[in-house]
Amino acid sequence: MHLREIRKGIELIASVHWERRLFDSLIPLPDGTSYNAYLIRGSEKIALLDTTDPELRHELMDPLESVERVDYVISHHAEQDHSGSIPEILRRYPEATLLCSSKAEDLLRSHLDIPEDRLRVVEDGEKLSLGDKTLQFVYTPWVHWPETMCTYIPEDRCLFSCDFFGSHLATTDAFVTDKAQVYEAAKRYYAEIMMPFRGIITKNLQKLESLDFDMIAPSHGPVYDDPSFILEAYEDWSSPTMKNEVVLPYISMHGSTGIMVKYLIDALAKQGVRVHAFDLAVTDIGKLAMALVDAATVIVGTPTVHMGSHPAAYYATYLANLLRPKLKYAAIVGSYGWSSKVIEQISGLIPNLKVDVLGTVLHKGVPTQETFAQLDELARAVAQAHEKDENVK
Ligand code: FEO
Repeated sequence: MHLREIRKGIELIASVHWERRLFDSLIPLPDGTSYNAYLIRGSEKIALLDTTDPELRHELMDPLESVERVDYVISHHAEQDHSGSIPEILRRYPEATLLCSSKAEDLLRSHLDIPEDRLRVVEDGEKLSLGDKTLQFVYTPWVHWPETMCTYIPEDRCLFSCDFFGSHLATTDAFVTDKAQVYEAAKRYYAEIMMPFRGIITKNLQKLESLDFDMIAPSHGPVYDDPSFILEAYEDWSSPTMKNEVVLPYISMHGSTGIMVKYLIDALAKQGVRVHAFDLAVTDIGKLAMALVDAATVIVGTPTVHMGSHPAAYYATYLANLLRPKLKYAAIVGSYGWSSKVIEQISGLIPNLKVDVLGTVLHKGVPTQETFAQLDELARAVAQAHEKDENVK
């Protein structure tokens, strides 16, 4: 899109990817996404913060036709959606120096053919004057790779955060206009990208407390001109506090597991526990990830397929293990025809989740009154565990 001034001398160049529906061949993007670059015009020097995905390079290069000189290109993150167009930018501006964190150097050189003399590493806390504006580099690792950093401009009280606080949202809005919509997109983004690094996110949030800013300009989604709501959301999502909720990914082949799951949902609701159930045959895996941000318990529901779990339940469990949500309790329910290794298999898939297993209910064939009694008992165990846990609010 065209250059849009978001603060005096700071322009947003958003490449809006309206039609993209999958990120990294893994993450669903129901609302598309954007890749934001920012042009900073100081009184003496000009800097470009990040670039764009090579697929949309014209969305960046076309608006830059009117910009004669760029002195610095800042790479906050080596992933290609922000750095993939750096080589073209360096060719367009032969006087420009590429600046990045110490860990980014190797990543940028191994992903892009950066000439030896065009790249310089900046240190954590280093300041660079553009004249009447100062770029201060702040290392914020693991948002989302180990090399990530932010840039802070004290004169404009603005933080450029790249993936950190981002939202996958295709929009013409330069600034957040619909907080509820952005909250949903940012939570999905946090769940899929940031949640595995929750401890480091907390440290990064604490590090940012020393900076005085009233605007956050991320590299996905609109700019926050009132950033308190996204900062509070990140503090909530990354805190140890959990909700009195169960996430229940399940799938059923011939109906028995489905009957058990529906009964269990009702039993949990009777105990006052909120349930997010996802039929894995049709669900948006991003919705499942979002529900895992807050829940205290996960219960996997699966039939037995050739002794093991259904592949969809296997995948969902494996994904939950990768995402490392803060939940503390787990259970497994399901059915089988003649024999099953489901409990051993699913239990073995979650070494990253430090959970107490509250119960397993595995039934041969169609569920009976005895099965329902076991599910009632499991629902009571979940409710009691949540009630006793001081982190469940
Ligand atoms: Fe938007 Fe991790 O790249």
